[in-house]
Amino acid sequence: MNGFDGKTAVVTGAASGIGRASAQRLAAEGASVVVADVDAEGGAETVAAIEDAGGDATFVEVDVTDAASVEHMVDVALDTYGSLDLAHNNAGILTGFDAVTDIEEEDWDRLLGVNLKGVWLCMKAELAVMEETGGAIVNTASEAGLVGMGGLSNYVASKHGVVGLTKTVALEYAGRGVRVNAIAPGPTKTNIQQGMTGGSDPSTLPFDTSAMADVPMDRQADPEEMAGAVAFLCSEDASYITGHTIPVDGGQAA
Ligand code: NAI
Repeated sequence: MNGFDGKTAVVTGAASGIGRASAQRLAAEGASVVVADVDAEGGAETVAAIEDAGGDATFVEVDVTDAASVEHMVDVALDTYGSLDLAHNNAGILTGFDAVTDIEEEDWDRLLGVNLKGVWLCMKAELAVMEETGGAIVNTASEAGLVGMGGLSNYVASKHGVVGLTKTVALEYAGRGVRVNAIAPGPTKTNIQQGMTGGSDPSTLPFDTSAMADVPMDRQADPEEMAGAVAFLCSEDASYITGHTIPVDGGQAA
C-alpha cells in the first residue's frame, strides 16, 4: 500500500472497468477520489462501492471532449477537497474494427476526440493546478499505443498520440514537480467493446486482426491489475519515473 492519505485524485472513465478499479484502489489507499464520467449511473455505483469500503468519493459528470466540462471537473475537486494531487486520465472508447479505408469520418473524429483530445484537455486543466502544487498524472494508453493493430487504425493512432503526449508533457514538467506517465493495458475484462457503434466482424477483414488476442500469459487482465500499476505510478515509489508508458500486458509487448 502506498498511502495516499490527504491526497485528492481525479479519475476519468471511472464509471466502469479500469477507471472504476483505479478509483477504488486510490480510495482504498487513502485518497479522496473524484469519480468522473459521462455515465452518471455507473459513476454513482463506483462512489457507492468506494463508500461501502470506507473510502471517500464524489461523482462529477464530465465529457472529456468538452473543455468547460473538464474545467468544471477540476473545480469540483478543488471545491470539494481543496486540492488536486493525482489524476488518472482514462476515459476512452472503441468505435469498431474496420479497414482504414472504411472508417467513417464521424467515427475517426469521435474516437480521437475522447481518446486523445480528452487526455490533452484533462491534463491542461489539471496542470493549471499542479504546476503550483506538484502532482502525478497517469494516462491510459494501450498496447495499441505501442504497436500497430489491424482493423483499429483510429484507436491505434489515438493511443500512439497518448504515448507521445505523455512523453512531451512529462518533459515540459520534469523540473516543476509534476510526473506524467501512462499505462499500456493489454486485453482487460471490461465493457469497452460493448460500446462499439460500428465496424465489421474482424474475421471478415482481409488482414490479421489478432494482435489484441495474442497474449503470452494466455489470459485477459482484471481491471484491478491495471489499478495496481496506476497506484504505483502515482506513488512515491515512482518518484524518479516520468515520461514513460508501462505495458501491463501479460507479456504482449515483450
Ligand atoms: P469501459 O468502457 O469499461 O470504460 C470506459 C469509460 O469511459 C466508461 O465508463 C465511459 O462511460 C467513459 N467515457 C466514454 N466517453 C467518455 C467521455 N467523453 N467523457 C467521460 N467519460 C467517457 O472500458 P475500459 O476498458 O475500462 O477503458 C478504460 C481505458 O482503458 C480506455 O482508455 C481504453 O482505451 C483503455 N484500454 C482498455 C483495454 C481493454 O482491453 N479493456 C486495453 C487497452 C486500453
